[in-house]
Amino acid sequence: MRILDYLNEYYDQDIYPMHMPGHKRRFDFMQGIDPYRIDVTEVAGSDNLHNPQGILKDSMELAARVFDSYKCWYLINGSTVGLISAIFSLSRRGDKILLARNCHKAVYNAMHICGLQPIYLFPPFDENFGVNASITPEQVKAALDEYPDIKLCVITSPTYDGVVSDIASISRVLHDHQVPLIVDEAHGPHFGFHPSFPKSAITEGADLVIQSIHKTLPSPTQTALLHLCSSLWKNRDRLEDMCRNVASALSIFESTSPSYIFMAAMDNCVHLLNDEQESLFHEYIRRINKFARETEQLKHIRILCKGLDSIENHPLFYAYDPSKIVMSIKNISLSSGEFESIMLNKYKIELEMIAADYGLALTSICDTDEGFERLLNALIEIDREYGTDVPTKPATPPPIQDVLTRMTISAAKDMPDDKIRLADSEGRISREIIFAYPPGIPLVVPGEEITKASIDRIESLIQDGITVQSTYGELPAYVHVVEYEIN
Ligand SMILES: Cc1ncc(COP(=O)(O)O)c(C=O)c1O
Repeated sequence: MRILDYLNEYYDQDIYPMHMPGHKRRFDFMQGIDPYRIDVTEVAGSDNLHNPQGILKDSMELAARVFDSYKCWYLINGSTVGLISAIFSLSRRGDKILLARNCHKAVYNAMHICGLQPIYLFPPFDENFGVNASITPEQVKAALDEYPDIKLCVITSPTYDGVVSDIASISRVLHDHQVPLIVDEAHGPHFGFHPSFPKSAITEGADLVIQSIHKTLPSPTQTALLHLCSSLWKNRDRLEDMCRNVASALSIFESTSPSYIFMAAMDNCVHLLNDEQESLFHEYIRRINKFARETEQLKHIRILCKGLDSIENHPLFYAYDPSKIVMSIKNISLSSGEFESIMLNKYKIELEMIAADYGLALTSICDTDEGFERLLNALIEIDREYGTDVPTKPATPPPIQDVLTRMTISAAKDMPDDKIRLADSEGRISREIIFAYPPGIPLVVPGEEITKASIDRIESLIQDGITVQSTYGELPAYVHVVEYEIN
């Protein structure tokens, strides 16, 4: 089948997108973009993303004002390029980097490319819903005390599931040690636009913040922002030096043919936020609150921090992003795959992600009353039809916390390769990232010993119908490991 035929056929099925991109395929938010008409390169007057002097410079300056950063760069290769460039610009080969272990795989790829040594912060685990909780300032402080030569810290906030860390306190702890903080805010570019949402890491003291505007705002897939907003480098010359560092990193990792379709769409998004922020977010919060109130009638399906659940039940959360809808299906007599399939085939709702015992729906300012109602009605009917009084699924095991790092990621990538069966890989050192996608958080990282616990976890995820992938793509049968056995 031709790709376009598939896409058109999909569109015609009227499936409601409870997933990214945040524009939710709403043409009315695209302000007349006709892709082929505007697909130019650096023609007269169109400016140059890698040396902006005209319309791109003006637009990115407006973005910095709207998002309240010192400097903003448009990214056309997603947050992926922003994370790699940010880490590259703030590190030197061999540096120790404090890293939340639930970072996206792009961060680990940056560790590889830049030859860095990660020191992990393991997020606490919320047993109640089976999701990662917030990284704490105390954890960061303890790590700095143990490794005073840490040069940089990278944290994901919010997580895919919407859990937010205390960026203000974490950045204070780091800055006391002159250590900069990069926040992967890929899932939180809507933060700060309404008091009901947490504040953005941009205004909470982070130094570089990366946001996938395609995930939660009306902007196409691949569009993202990188902000310099440092409270560590107060001096203007130092800030301008940092701007040059970031721009130079972007010139390495980002395409030299940035799409004007994407850049025009980002410009539209920024203008929309500038002009209509208040009314759009007011309506959005009204819809979220109405949905949350109405989920109180669910007897078996629980919604994280909504309806009968609230943040008080999650003492390990610093804050929560109300735009995310995490639906726990532990007390439903459907497997996660069946839940996903009923949502799609019966109710015509496509979810963002399905895990072993919960589903995730993503919302944005472009969602309609009808969209929220469709999801609510589906949940009410499924709850009534399949609800059980006792859990039908075993409790989610916490993510592996006791990883055995045997060598750095770069060292493992430099070693000779051996391809072996996953079942026989216990005790071997991985040469690849193994991850469930989404969310793209590594289960195993190059340089780590593959343990019985990690093999069991991978096999149980696969059994639950979760897509587990690896860098070389030979799972579920094979993994690539360092050639020599540990002695
Ligand atoms: C936490 C997090 N960071 C970064 C990324 C990469 O973002 P992008 O797809 O915009 O490159 C993702 C993608 O899902 C993500 O979940």
